[in-house]
Amino acid sequence: MKEFDPVAYTNMVKEFQQNNDPFGWFNSIYTDAEGDYKAVFWADLEPNPYLLNWLEDYIVDPEGCTAVVIGCGVGDDAEALSEAGYAVTAFDISPEAIRLCKNRYPKSRVDYLLADLFDYPSPWNESFDLVYECNTIQVLPGKYRIQARDAMISLLAPHGHILVSCRSRLTGEQEDDIPLPLDKEEIDGFVRCGLNEQSFAAYDDTQDPPVPHFFATYKK
Ligand SMILES: C[S@@+](CC[C@H](N)C(=O)[O-])C[C@H]1O[C@@H](n2cnc3c(N)ncnc32)[C@H](O)[C@@H]1O
Repeated sequence: MKEFDPVAYTNMVKEFQQNNDPFGWFNSIYTDAEGDYKAVFWADLEPNPYLLNWLEDYIVDPEGCTAVVIGCGVGDDAEALSEAGYAVTAFDISPEAIRLCKNRYPKSRVDYLLADLFDYPSPWNESFDLVYECNTIQVLPGKYRIQARDAMISLLAPHGHILVSCRSRLTGEQEDDIPLPLDKEEIDGFVRCGLNEQSFAAYDDTQDPPVPHFFATYKK
């Protein structure tokens, strides 16, 4: 297994982006983990606590509802949604990520699939009661961030919810960072697209030093 080197990581991502292959590097992160989901450096290996809180507080019974997890990584959040009662589709653009999920959860009820947010199967259009994304918009460059937001909204069934969990930054700061955290103006794009903001949390995580985050929920 390769040691995580932040400088090498940034250079590698920039090289893919400069070569007009902005998604080509994702699979290499999972391939470098050599089949060990614990070796994927961005995986928390536990469900997002803000997702768990939302599931606990949400008043509607998720039984019979559908959820889609964008860029599911190694699957912790998809499994949490499934445990809560959703029929979950979880997809990632990385074949190796999907292989890791299937090996990690051989008896899962989650449907783990290889798919691209920007070219998803057409029957998915407006078909999910819950669309969940954690830390995927922030790893996309430029125009793909807006396209990702729009694609997420297009997956949403009438009256469905979108949950967005991401790193955050102040406008004008960290503009060259990879990943590039979302600022308030960017995440408010979900409201400008006509969704109703149901909740919004700005918080620091438990890392040292702490990393600022947003967790926002919207309803169609
Ligand atoms: C930073 S990781 C976050 C993974 C996971 N959601 C988590 O919180 O640990 C971003 C994920 O998005 C996936 N991804 C990037 N672009 C994608 C796309 N166009 N369609 C589907 N998945 C994508 C990557 O392969 C990667 O697994």
